[in-house]
Amino acid sequence: MGTSPSFLLVAIDGGAASGKSSTARALAARFPLLHVDTGAHYRAITAEMLRKGVTPGDLSGVESALAGLRLGTRVTGSAAQMEIGGRIQGDEIRAPDVNAAVSHFAALPAVRTALLHYQRGQVEVAKSHGFKGLVMEGRDIGSVIFPAADLRFFLHADPVERARRRAQEGQLDSVAERDRLDSSRKTAPLTCPPGAIDIDSTHLTLDQVVDRVATLVAVRLNPVPPAP
Ligand code: C5P
Repeated sequence: MGTSPSFLLVAIDGGAASGKSSTARALAARFPLLHVDTGAHYRAITAEMLRKGVTPGDLSGVESALAGLRLGTRVTGSAAQMEIGGRIQGDEIRAPDVNAAVSHFAALPAVRTALLHYQRGQVEVAKSHGFKGLVMEGRDIGSVIFPAADLRFFLHADPVERARRRAQEGQLDSVAERDRLDSSRKTAPLTCPPGAIDIDSTHLTLDQVVDRVATLVAVRLNPVPPAP
């Protein structure tokens, strides 16, 4: 029932290692949706600040570094990646120093405002590449970036399970500490926005999570026509 929106916006939020990146990537592989990982945006900005020797406490340094950044987008397959000065950031955005600093930079309103405009602009990027919609994952997508998204999901999982997932990926990452910082900041804290579909993935496989989300996306993209 219902009509298909001309462009489908899917928001997936959740804590560190809640499964949102894998879910969003799998969705973009099944449907003609552009996948945008906003955690990678915060990580790329953080890596750039660290390279420039700017600390999160140096607000004027952060603001002038932000003003000098030329942000662009490269689309490869169904994934959008942020370019800074025409360059894609590599594995360095997953390095331990970035893991430790990213939540501190992400708490700064100047950083969030710069990325809010960039992230909302991803709709035009997706449309210009012929995608039928966008799946954007992060912490504040359903609450701040696209509060009127067609579908908003919030994934959570037990902290012990999430730490186990990160360790399995071979990553040194204090998931609980990042969540604490992300949930307690003043601007756009990590929270399940009212009306979002809450999924506890602790005891679900990735395929089970993807199936739940994909079922709802499929209904929106291919609604059953009303009976004649
Ligand atoms: O998703 P990922 O764990 O890679 O995100 C890294 C960090 O970026 C988060 O811990 C958070 O501080 C920040 N972030 C954010 N808002 C988003 C996405 C990520 O504050 N929408």
